[in-house]
Amino acid sequence: MGKTVLITGGAGFIGSHFAEYLIQRYPDYQIRVLDALTYAGRRENLATLEGNPRFTFIHGDVRDRQTVQRAMEGVDYVAHFAAETHVDRSILDPDAFITTDVYGTFTMLEVARQLGVERFVHVSTDEVYGSADEGAFSEQSPLRPSSPYAASKAGADLLAQAYYRTYGVPVLIVRPSNTFGPRQYPEKLIPFFTVRALHDEPLPLYGDGQQRRDWLYVGDHIRALDVVLHRGQVGEAYNIAGGNERTNIEVSRIILHTLGKPESLIQFVQDRPGHDRRYALDDSKLRALGWKPEADFETALRETVLWYAQHPEWWQPILQAQAEYRRFVERWYAGR
Ligand code: TYD
Repeated sequence: MGKTVLITGGAGFIGSHFAEYLIQRYPDYQIRVLDALTYAGRRENLATLEGNPRFTFIHGDVRDRQTVQRAMEGVDYVAHFAAETHVDRSILDPDAFITTDVYGTFTMLEVARQLGVERFVHVSTDEVYGSADEGAFSEQSPLRPSSPYAASKAGADLLAQAYYRTYGVPVLIVRPSNTFGPRQYPEKLIPFFTVRALHDEPLPLYGDGQQRRDWLYVGDHIRALDVVLHRGQVGEAYNIAGGNERTNIEVSRIILHTLGKPESLIQFVQDRPGHDRRYALDDSKLRALGWKPEADFETALRETVLWYAQHPEWWQPILQAQAEYRRFVERWYAGR
């Protein structure tokens, strides 16, 4: 039977991919996107959905209760992506992280409780666990966030759990690893370094570049969300791992090779304070629901890099704002 799905943050990177996927995969679903269009949320990201009678866009903020009430009216499923997500920004200016990620999630949960939705998927992050020096975190591992961003997401994650236990709000939590793909805002490692390399500008690698991340292709990520949304057990959390653990320097080299640029563009810079060394997840609980990642990492990374190379019209309008912000980050880290 047709469902109405509210996607908050649906004009952002992963949210917009999920909106496109649901529209195609479920021809009887109505998709409603609520997005504040701050900086990483961009209406252009939803271009393929504009004009579709099954798609509605609402411009608004998850911190605003009335807006959320209007957006959630008549909704069956919620996928709550809306958040401030960039670690470096959270180090320089944590305010918006606390209000959007924590208070915004609180507002979403309160309205879900009041209106009685069928399922509420809260998109958390692997960063809530902190650094995994060895082994891999399971959903039972303690939350030990390092950055203000990770702490704000941990706060939201715990609130979602509390709303399930206390009020029975049908919450499902996902904790995905580092995601990459087209339309990711060029402040995150892969799009940032790609755009820099396209301009023959140095790639500022933090510290020794040996930090490790487990990379998850966006297509695999949204298939996992589909599985959890429809088949996950309410009240449970699910890790989503890419199964592609690589050091930052390895990822940087693939970006440079793909674009035919020299490795000499790599420049080691002052490390990010509180920098987590490694993220690693045990995703056996999700795999038991029948999901596994399918993308080949190197192929997906090369295709992603080439997507940015072929779509300068997507990143050119945001390049100047990103460059100004980035100078601010580097001055701040260097001056510590
Ligand atoms: P990022 O994309 O910011 O994601 P996260 O911090 O959530 O994992 O960074 C990925 C890794 O790349 C992380 O270890 C930090 C590193 N990094 C750099 O070395 N230089 C940079 O300019 C950026 C943005 C990230």
